[in-house]
Amino acid sequence: MKTFSFLLVGCIVLTTFTGCSPISMTLSKPLSTSQLAVMPSSVSKTTPAAIEQEVERLLAALTLSEKISLLHANSKFTVAGVERLGIEEMHLSDGPHGVRHEISRHSWAPADWDTDYATYLPPLTAIAASWDPAMATLHGTVLGREARHRNKDIILGPGVNLARLPTYGRNFEYFGEDPFLAAQLVVPEILAIQQHDVAACVKHYALNTQELNRWGVDAQPDERTLREVYLPAFEAAVKEGGVYSVMGAYNKVYGTNANQSAHLVNGILKQDWGFDGVLLTDWHVDINTVDAAMNGLDLEMGTLVEDYDDYYFAAPLLAKVQEGEIPEAIIDEKVRRILRLQLRVGMMDPLRQEGLRNTEEHHRAARTLAEQGIVLLKNDQQLLPLQKDTLKNVLVMGPNANLPHGRGGGSSQVKSNYEITPLQGLQTLLGDDVNIVYLRAGTGDTLQPIPADYISTRHGGSGTPVWRVISFEDAERQQPLNVTEWPQSSKRWAHNTDTQYLTLEATLVPIESGEHIVKFHGSGHAQLHVDGESVASWHTDGQKVLSQTLNLTAGQAYTFQLQYDGNTYFTLGWDAPGIQVVSEAVYTEAAKKADLVLYFGGLSHSDDREGHDRESMRLPGNQDEVITALHRANATTTVFIIAGSAVEMPWANDISTLVWGWYGGMEAGHAYARMLTGAVNPAGKMPITLPKQYADTAPIKLDDYNDNTALYKEGVFIGYRWFEAQSIEVQFPFGHGLSYTQFDIDNLSVPKVVDANAEKTVISVTLKNTGKRTGAEVVQLYLGDAVASVARPIKELKGFKKVTLAPGESQTVMFELKPRDFAFWDIQTNGWLVEQGNFNIYVGVSSEDIRAQGVLHHQ
Ligand code: BGC
Repeated sequence: MKTFSFLLVGCIVLTTFTGCSPISMTLSKPLSTSQLAVMPSSVSKTTPAAIEQEVERLLAALTLSEKISLLHANSKFTVAGVERLGIEEMHLSDGPHGVRHEISRHSWAPADWDTDYATYLPPLTAIAASWDPAMATLHGTVLGREARHRNKDIILGPGVNLARLPTYGRNFEYFGEDPFLAAQLVVPEILAIQQHDVAACVKHYALNTQELNRWGVDAQPDERTLREVYLPAFEAAVKEGGVYSVMGAYNKVYGTNANQSAHLVNGILKQDWGFDGVLLTDWHVDINTVDAAMNGLDLEMGTLVEDYDDYYFAAPLLAKVQEGEIPEAIIDEKVRRILRLQLRVGMMDPLRQEGLRNTEEHHRAARTLAEQGIVLLKNDQQLLPLQKDTLKNVLVMGPNANLPHGRGGGSSQVKSNYEITPLQGLQTLLGDDVNIVYLRAGTGDTLQPIPADYISTRHGGSGTPVWRVISFEDAERQQPLNVTEWPQSSKRWAHNTDTQYLTLEATLVPIESGEHIVKFHGSGHAQLHVDGESVASWHTDGQKVLSQTLNLTAGQAYTFQLQYDGNTYFTLGWDAPGIQVVSEAVYTEAAKKADLVLYFGGLSHSDDREGHDRESMRLPGNQDEVITALHRANATTTVFIIAGSAVEMPWANDISTLVWGWYGGMEAGHAYARMLTGAVNPAGKMPITLPKQYADTAPIKLDDYNDNTALYKEGVFIGYRWFEAQSIEVQFPFGHGLSYTQFDIDNLSVPKVVDANAEKTVISVTLKNTGKRTGAEVVQLYLGDAVASVARPIKELKGFKKVTLAPGESQTVMFELKPRDFAFWDIQTNGWLVEQGNFNIYVGVSSEDIRAQGVLHHQ
């Protein structure tokens, strides 16, 4: 809240005539009398009423063309200002876990500044795993401050789409699978961002749950599923978080693009929830001027046209107003929302906060956030925390041991000053006393595509790293048939495909200088050119991996071009320098000699990334085989998964020690090492279920994953609700996570009979730390409607509290349930309905590990 409006008015007067400082850019210029007349009389607005007054004053001064100019982009990430009125150009930026590097004004190419570094925070999956609103506040604080420091007005996050499909490429950006958890965490995140004079932009509204045909897939959930599962986090963002902007989704909803869905936008968002901010499009959506304008869209961004006047909300919109098809009042309403947002974030306030960036405090916050998200899945032999003094030889392996992640993933990529990998974190913490051997398992027949981290070619609409793929009629390559983009240098065709003549092109930028062993596996003929020169020609039936060593320099851009003629499958991969690649015999021998084997596996942003879904839930490459071989050689094998979405872990029952670390931001390695060595007692809990196999998950089992329509056949049974209802055993349940200490829960107190309309229902338990270390437990309250007129999940999360206790200490943990917590969306009345009867109350430490149970009767 700003409290200096009167002082400011005085200063403006003085500034204009005497030059007192501080001054804004606008005010430092001489102003004509007519300009002065329309300048904001008081640029700092302290109350909503004052903001509304200013909005109306500015609106009245705008011409129709000026109004329209405020409703669409005038560059990749800006919206025009109106200089004569003191309305400045508005700056938007990705993204949800750090301010993205600066993009060129009119193309996706990085602007190549050396002043656009930002703190790379752990993505929101890690915040969800903390189950701690205070962590969301910390995350939002850093993001808000840094966005301001980069002179941004809107930061494009947080994202709250739910992890319905484990292979969805963007799960890592969001808060997990549970609508309640996401809703509870998005609110503090937004409040913290907006506290710093920058607008949050909650996205992608709505039903963006797959990347497969993300521009075209038509989401068709029933109304109850929409309201109960896919909207609550958006609803909380609007009603409780007071979010200033919302981004629409790429997908369709019942046949029309989400941005112009009358039901979603004017109906639910604006009318039902009373949203008074800006609905902006995602970058390049499939809309039309009239539907979008009439159904509530306010601002169009990212459309792929040459001229900004060709945006749907530019010249075509002006024409429709002039022709009388769209009333000017509709335009005014949109302009009001844009001006309101601008005033709310202080765009016209010379004393607006300036923000801070890359401070030590922010980097420390990144570490804390990573630490709080780590989930200890299994510690059967109490191998963790590591006893430093008994460790002499540690073998470190796995594709994530020394891999940075910040610059991958698509639009959420962050350019940070540094990123500590797990190996570096361990080296720092274990010091010279421990001999750390780091090896990389040869990839054998399961060659991996070249990781996204090396690809600087971008997809036009999303900024995602891609290969440009040109197909030809024949090997001569005279006439291109088609041009597409692939996220990976790999392809497998169904049987009986005619020979394909393809050319794959991308610009690759090595991370470390030295020998890059470029590898090809597949059948057919392949010719590789680098910077126009032929460097390898492979003809193969797929028996062997073929390779060619190239000496490449870090930071230099190389054009790779692979001409492939074949029809079964191929992969172009490479072993980049910095890691030693050895055979199974060598690494299992090393494992036998080690006191401890630490395997950092999981996914990378070649897998968890915008624009594509994974093909399966299996770990990429030969990770399953290597983990199994390592465990056979050494029972201390500890697996540390870094990933943003669920993976199959067929070896999970065999190994004793398993940790899940998410992508951990720039301080990841330090955070992981501190958790492994016990400086941090883990308290994270899974915000997603880890199923045993992909085939068990609802979209796959119900055959509801394709590039055409998403019917949401499982209805409200998302995530654990599905597995419970179907009695499908999972690998690790939602909410699971261990600590280095133990906790007891008892004394559950549940009122026996409650009025169905009671404003609050108080439930309490006692939590006690019965172990030997201080630690935190997340007490989780699930609720089940025992007998309902509609099918309801056995359990649904409706409360959680994270409590830190010293050994022997106990505390009463209270939950206050509201009527809505008991309700379901009733399609008869189009409203929330709480039915009478019994509700089961479950209090525990995961959706399966219930420690206390009671029954409450609604009358
Ligand atoms: C993504 C958005 C992102 C936007 C701008 C889109 O492709 O879906 O999440 O904010 O690009 O980069």
